[in-house]
Amino acid sequence: MNFAVFASGNGSNLQAIIDALGQGAIKGSLGLVLSDKADAYALTRARQAGVEHVVFLDPRDFASRTAFDAAVVEILKERQIELVVLAGFMRILSPVLVRAYAGRIINIHPALLPAFKGAHAVRDALAAGVATTGVTVHFVDEEVDHGPVIAQVSVPVLEGDTLASLAARIHAAEHVLYPDVINRVLQGTLDVPAQDACA
Ligand code: GAR
Repeated sequence: MNFAVFASGNGSNLQAIIDALGQGAIKGSLGLVLSDKADAYALTRARQAGVEHVVFLDPRDFASRTAFDAAVVEILKERQIELVVLAGFMRILSPVLVRAYAGRIINIHPALLPAFKGAHAVRDALAAGVATTGVTVHFVDEEVDHGPVIAQVSVPVLEGDTLASLAARIHAAEHVLYPDVINRVLQGTLDVPAQDACA
């Protein structure tokens, strides 16, 4: 199955996916990496890995979020992408994209959803003083950081944790969880609970 990764930043999750493909731990084909940020290091990682289609789309070139997402859908169709993997893609998806790929977009979030939605989940968890946070992988619906949960892992918040130390532990958990979930989605061997655990 042909899948795409969308990333806006460093792309450490993209790297974990690329490495898992190289090791045969993900059986599928990474047909497209797309970013909305010209300077995203994820784009460099994709080029270095020899991904065939590496695309930067500048949101400023589009009149609206819908217009941007319509262009994205066109690229996905052109490249015959069957699954979209969001890996630190920091844009809200509009219905035009979510509906075109209903049930075929997954996201990773650095918290135990529904706790700590948004762009600063690790910082927010630390500030809230919780003893445990974690990582969620979920199907994407029309709400932000919302949709049926596929998998979650807990990460303890340790005494003396800083944003950097906690983020590093969360990233390490992401890099194990996401390739495994992606492979299971691609193989169709997922056991997804029917209820929306993020609601
Ligand atoms: C990851 O921690 C991911 O969970 C988070 O962005 C980071 C991207 O890191 N996503 C969100 O916060 C989505 N709401 P990376 O660029 O190194 O893969």
